[in-house]
Amino acid sequence: MSKSILSKIKNKKIKVGIIGLGYVGLPLAIRFLKQKVNVQGVEITSEKINLIKKGICYIENKNFLNNSYFDKFKKNVTNDYSCLKQQDIIIICLPTPLNKSKKPDISIIKKSVIKLRKILNQNHVLILESTVYPGATLEIFKLFNNKNKYTLGRNFHLIFSPERENPGDKLFTYDKTPKVVSGYSKECSKIAYNLYSLIAKKVFIAKSIKVAEMSKLLENTYRSVNIGLVNEFKIISDKLGINVWDVIEAAKTKNFGFRPFHPGPGVGGHCIPIDPIYLTWLMKKKKYNSKLIETSSKLNSSMSEWVYRKIIKYLKKNRISSKKILVVGISYKKNTSDTRESPSIEIIKKFLFKKYRVEFYDPYVKKFELENKLFNKRSISLSSLKKYKKKSIVIVGTDHSNVNYKKIHAGSELIFDTRGVYRNFKTNNIIYI
Ligand SMILES: NC(=O)c1ccc[n+]([C@@H]2O[C@H](COP(=O)([O-])OP(=O)(O)OC[C@H]3O[C@@H](n4cnc5c(N)ncnc54)[C@H](O)[C@@H]3O)[C@@H](O)[C@H]2O)c1
Repeated sequence: MSKSILSKIKNKKIKVGIIGLGYVGLPLAIRFLKQKVNVQGVEITSEKINLIKKGICYIENKNFLNNSYFDKFKKNVTNDYSCLKQQDIIIICLPTPLNKSKKPDISIIKKSVIKLRKILNQNHVLILESTVYPGATLEIFKLFNNKNKYTLGRNFHLIFSPERENPGDKLFTYDKTPKVVSGYSKECSKIAYNLYSLIAKKVFIAKSIKVAEMSKLLENTYRSVNIGLVNEFKIISDKLGINVWDVIEAAKTKNFGFRPFHPGPGVGGHCIPIDPIYLTWLMKKKKYNSKLIETSSKLNSSMSEWVYRKIIKYLKKNRISSKKILVVGISYKKNTSDTRESPSIEIIKKFLFKKYRVEFYDPYVKKFELENKLFNKRSISLSSLKKYKKKSIVIVGTDHSNVNYKKIHAGSELIFDTRGVYRNFKTNNIIYI
């Protein structure tokens, strides 16, 4: 059977179904579509389906109306799983968050796979792209194969391929970034290799699914630990009266053995605050306490509180009574509209709790609403920026590249910069925190 799949891939006659059209699934669909591969999308959120049908891409605020490949896709997006019956390959790109007790929650995938039981059959290829803990892909497959209908690698192919999507990053695009894949059997890996070679420049076959699962956690834990380290350096530098940005500038001149990471008000998004916890949770089950990983996660999530306290302390010390805050950048990192787990939002909540009037300016986020509705605002426009920043305390929460920081600075009385965007400005109304 793999022969027919492989020849379909080679001739681009393969039919790919993608479940979950979010930050990972939608760009993935677009990559296959660009290669003239037939893609069927299944998405649960009707708002997203409607936007796609209108040709609007909600990920990077790009409009796809004029692209012929996207026109075809508009008709192929639905919330109905039954359309997946006709697809050869199903790729799961569903969220893997933490639950209320801060433990890995793969229930969204599990529920989806239970639905797939009635739809998929022998000869289908199932790929998981969501980030999971080592062992989860097989666990999920067992749930799917509850009646032992399938023999892996023989009449059903299972693949895990971690996603390296980096929304907003123009430097490391998909066509430059290698893709890791791993299949249950050699045959599964071969299918994965050939499929992803259609859209990625280089495909790396990991030795097993568990290795591939673990490699994704290493990549993101590496970031979490290094961001934790540089955030700790920020706190230490602050205590010593040194500007941490100047320290990084000097250290990064070392051309071996050092990679600069940047401090900030904390970490956000769907990866860095979450993925290390998938590992620490698994280790707790194995009675091992992954100390370094846990400490850096905790440190990163405490940064918004540290930033908030620093601002309050400064305001008190300098008898600044203004109760107006303008936050510049509320997404969790630069050049994206993603506000999930954003530290800027955490800071906003703290100031709202203290009865501050908060406005925000973010060229990527048009509107933001807190779950408790305490905050439901639109980004102020560039034209009204002058009016707002006048009597406000400005906090730079995200370092978007397309913000005119000079313009923000002009006329602002006091700026707290959590991202070092003003590190080359020579003025005393900017406080680096
Ligand atoms: N965002 C990133 O930059 C990134 C990078 C690498 C890996 N990942 C991983 O990829 C996975 C997906 O992340 P994401 O950021 O794309 O999440 P997302 O929330 O942006 O997208 C998931 C989509 O799935 C939809 N959905 C939820 N339940 C569904 C169901 N039962 N059936 C169909 N659709 C459903 C949601 O409406 C949403 O549109 C996660 O495991 C994440 O950790 C994310």
